[in-house]
Amino acid sequence: MRHISPSLLAADFGNLQRECEMINQSSAEYLHIDVMDGVFVPNISFGFPVMKAVAKHCTKPLDVHLMITEPEKYVERFCKAGAWSVGFHIEATDDPMKAIRIIREQGVRTCLTINPKTDIHALDPYLGEVDMVLLMSVEAGYGGQSFIPVSVDRLRYLREAIDSRGLRTLIEVDGGINTQNASLLWEAGADILVAGSAVFQAKDPIATIDQLKQ
Ligand code: DX5
Ligand code: ZN
Repeated sequence: MRHISPSLLAADFGNLQRECEMINQSSAEYLHIDVMDGVFVPNISFGFPVMKAVAKHCTKPLDVHLMITEPEKYVERFCKAGAWSVGFHIEATDDPMKAIRIIREQGVRTCLTINPKTDIHALDPYLGEVDMVLLMSVEAGYGGQSFIPVSVDRLRYLREAIDSRGLRTLIEVDGGINTQNASLLWEAGADILVAGSAVFQAKDPIATIDQLKQ
């Protein structure tokens, strides 16, 4: 699978409707929604009202990435705000299964996210419990950072762990992804690539989305 999820964080926030319409016309499979609370990460992005407005204009499934503490308190509201999938960080909660269950009860796809510095084996017990894992290839918090090369080894480990157990869990990779490094990530086993700056700052975002798939 080679699916692209452009990250809205890099879009022109003064023209969100226009940006959504561009994504609707593109070959992107999803729109990635980065929610930051200023506590779990040192940055604040946007929350429910913006996401609901985007849901009205975007015809692609919304792939929600929560960078917030105590995700179990908010995941249900994100499901109700129109999420196709809801992901939260393994570092943000003591009880990932609680949030996973709430998301599942809403009929929404579950995603567990891991930061670059967290031991990749922390995901092992959950690989069979979620629909997707989101491997951060930059420290969560800001768009426009450089890809951390060791993420490729972490991705290879996840691909092998998922395949050897006969699981169908999807692997999404997020951070610093562009037309130069995308092919390496597909080869290492990524199913979905998130790209913010590479898409929205490109001269031709629609052509860039096509290129990212190659
Ligand atoms: C970082 C976010 C990413 C970010 C990606 O905390 O989770 O989704 O927007 O942006 P780029 O592609 O610019 O690294
Ligand atoms: Zn993200």
